[in-house]
This record gives sequence, structure tokens and C-alpha cells, in this order.
Amino acid sequence: MGVIGPFQKLLQAAMEEGIDLVIQGAGSRSDIFEIAKKYNVPVFIIASSAKVAKKAEDAGASAVVIEGCDAGGHLGFPEGHPFRKTIDIIKETVQTIKIPVIAAGGIFDGKDIIQMLRAGAKGVQMATRFVATNECDADDKFKQAYISSKEEDIVIIKSPVGLPGRAIKNSFAEKILNGTAPKVNISECEGCIGPVCNKAYCILKALENARNGDTENGLIFAGANVFRIKEIVSVKKLIDELTAQANQILAKEPLIQ
Ligand SMILES: Cc1cc2nc3c(=O)[nH]c(=O)nc-3n(C[C@H](O)[C@H](O)[C@H](O)COP(=O)(O)O)c2cc1C
Repeated sequence: MGVIGPFQKLLQAAMEEGIDLVIQGAGSRSDIFEIAKKYNVPVFIIASSAKVAKKAEDAGASAVVIEGCDAGGHLGFPEGHPFRKTIDIIKETVQTIKIPVIAAGGIFDGKDIIQMLRAGAKGVQMATRFVATNECDADDKFKQAYISSKEEDIVIIKSPVGLPGRAIKNSFAEKILNGTAPKVNISECEGCIGPVCNKAYCILKALENARNGDTENGLIFAGANVFRIKEIVSVKKLIDELTAQANQILAKEPLIQ
């Protein structure tokens, strides 16, 4: 769940429906802990530094997802903050906090999963690989953009929220890069992210367009390893593959945590 839209209403509705867990990205809000406590639902916060992870722990998070610079979408490294690899932030964070740390960003195969667990993570969060599955509800054109992407097609754009974002180059991404993306039409603006948005273009519309298959007028967020995906598979096949790869490594060298 991001901070877009009627945050409290969405959160409350999800809790009332009996969800097991909330993972919050795009900046943590203090009101999330109050509401979650009422419903006894654990909250995981996405962070890109040990410092932010510590703040989340102190505020009441049950776990932290550490997202490094190879992730898809918004990256938690504003101007002046150098991009950092997930594994480096994980190592630092597990020394800093006591709650479980989960690794995210650029995790592609079973080898990557084991590497994160050996660095002290208790689990991993993966997005890009699961976009290229039959079960993902994005339009097929979005998935096709994933499997036809090449390494040189991956770009870092500036989001209207002031953060960098990783996407696959298409005509919309090029417009963002050369400053010609259509500005937000104020009469249509829902104010979804409030004052943090500089309205350089409508990120909500851009992401929705892409998800719905308009991959020329939309922003195709993807992780740094997207170009390595060659086919769309079922979630079961992907999980089986990741598990087999991880188990093969563990058979030679078990995990000591
Ligand atoms: C298409 C796409 C959309 C994403 N949207 C969000 C989002 O709305 N909020 C968020 O916190 N993270 C978002 N992410 C980041 C993922 O939650 C995840 O942590 C990250 O992409 C993991 O890296 P990976 O994609 O290399 O596995 C998005 C990622 C992708 C690929």
C-alpha cells in the first residue's frame, strides 16, 4: 500500500476485511500504526536505509523491507543520496534493529535469495519476476514489454514526487527524460499524493495507462534485472524454480542463521 489516495479509508477497509498484514511503501505514515494496532494487524515498512528502518522499528513496525537500488518503480534515494545495493543495506540494518529484515530489489533467482538470507535477511520480497506471470493482472502488453526488454532499455526517470524511478524506455519515458511529458491538467488532478507532487506529469495516469496496456503513453516500472526474463510462466512454475535453485545451493552449504 502506498500513500496515494484516501489512505486511512483504504487501510480501515482492508483491516475490516481481515487482512493478515500491511506492507507500506512510499514513505511511512505514523497513523498507520494506530489503526493497525486497533485491528491487531502487523505492519511492515519499506525502507532504503538502516536509519529509516530504525525509525520504523521505534514507531512500531513488526518487520522492515529493505529495498535497494535495483528495485522497480520508485527508489528511496532522493537527490544527494547515492544509490545503494540491497545487500549492503541489509548487512547494516541487521546490525541496527531487532525486528526481522526482508530483502527487496533486483532479486532474480534462488542464488540471490540465499545470498540475502546469508546476509541476515529473514525473507525476500520480489516484484519484477512476478509481473511476468500468467496470474499478474497487468495487461499482456505490459508483460510483453518486460520479456522483450534489453539491458540498455532500462532507464532512471525523475518522478513528480521527487524520487528517481526505474522503468523500461518507451516513448513516455523518453518524454520524461527530455522534459516534454504532458503536464498535469489541474482540472483533472485528484491530488492523489498531495503537495509532494510537482505535477511535472501525472504519475497516477502514467502508471494506470501502462498497466492497462497503453505502453506508449504509460510508464512501465520494472526492476534492474527485467531484461533477464525470457518468458511468462505460472506463479507455481516460478516458485518451483526459485525453490529448486535455493535448495540446490543449501544442499551443498546449509544456512546458518
Ligand atoms: C511494476 C512495479 C510497480 C511497483 N509499485 C510499487 C508501489 O506502488 N509501491 C511500492 O512500495 N513499491 C512498488 N514497487 C516496488 C516493489 O514493491 C518491490 O519492492 C521491488 O520492485 C522489488 O524489486 P524487484 O522488482 O527487482 O523484485 C513496484 C515494482 C514494480 C516492478
